[in-house]
Amino acid sequence: MNGPVVEVRDLRKVIEGREILKGISFEVREGEIFSIIGGSGSGKTSITKHIVGLWKPTSGSVKVFGEEVSLLTQDELDSLRKDIGYVFQEGALFDSLKVWENVGFYFLEHTSMPREEIRELALEKIRLVDLEEDVLDLMPSELSGGMRKRVSIARAIATDPRLIIYDEPTSGLDPITSRVIDRLILDLREKTGTTAIVVTHDMISAFTISDRLILVKKGVAVSMGTPSEVLRSENPIVHEFVGEMREFLLSQSESV
Ligand SMILES: Nc1ncnc2c1ncn2[C@@H]1O[C@H](COP(=O)(O)OP(=O)(O)OP(=O)(O)O)[C@@H](O)[C@H]1O
Ligand SMILES: [Mg+2]
Repeated sequence: MNGPVVEVRDLRKVIEGREILKGISFEVREGEIFSIIGGSGSGKTSITKHIVGLWKPTSGSVKVFGEEVSLLTQDELDSLRKDIGYVFQEGALFDSLKVWENVGFYFLEHTSMPREEIRELALEKIRLVDLEEDVLDLMPSELSGGMRKRVSIARAIATDPRLIIYDEPTSGLDPITSRVIDRLILDLREKTGTTAIVVTHDMISAFTISDRLILVKKGVAVSMGTPSEVLRSENPIVHEFVGEMREFLLSQSESV
């Protein structure tokens, strides 16, 4: 496609009388890794809820693949969601289903594809996230935190989406596993070319894997640009947010 994959213009959202998004604008280009960063409660997840059509803007525009999301019919919305892989903040695997059934969930629910074929497809996706065949029949409770994230990612890419949204992919993981997940997000972009939005408050992650990012505070977009543009900005809120990590992050973001 020619235009941006996601185009958000002056997005405002009022919920229970409170304005939680106060005129957010950005666009995500094809093939890009774009991060949304900011403290807890700043509105990061809320932005993504508009992108997948779970919430309608109070005002402003959210276009995905060129279509105004709030104007889609239910059928069109279902088809849009098939094109978007969403890695939930909490992981959200079904505890009573095996790993392969989690990964193949869309096909088990929405198609008449034979179970054997779905299992094969799940295996292909499991390998893309660097797990092996032996996890297919495990239950989510038998996995480590890092493995659960990988399985969530495998499920999100099962339908070959054109856009993947990762909501806090490294939250709850130790620093080493967090960097492994970062690497995986980069590898997947390399292998599949899929556009990605990463919602995170992990600054190392945001400033090392993103092509561009936006910093949100209390529903306002404070700064946007490449990692080094944002880090080099004079904006005091950026300085407050990155704090003592600024020099380190600059060296990381400019070393690649
Ligand atoms: N369903 C809801 N009803 C009312 N208020 C909500 C709802 N969901 C979110 N909010 C409010 O909107 C604001 C932004 O929430 P959001 O979940 O987008 O934050 P976030 O940046 O993703 O935070 P975190 O890093 O903790 O996940 C918060 O003040 C939150 O209380
Ligand atoms: Mg959130």
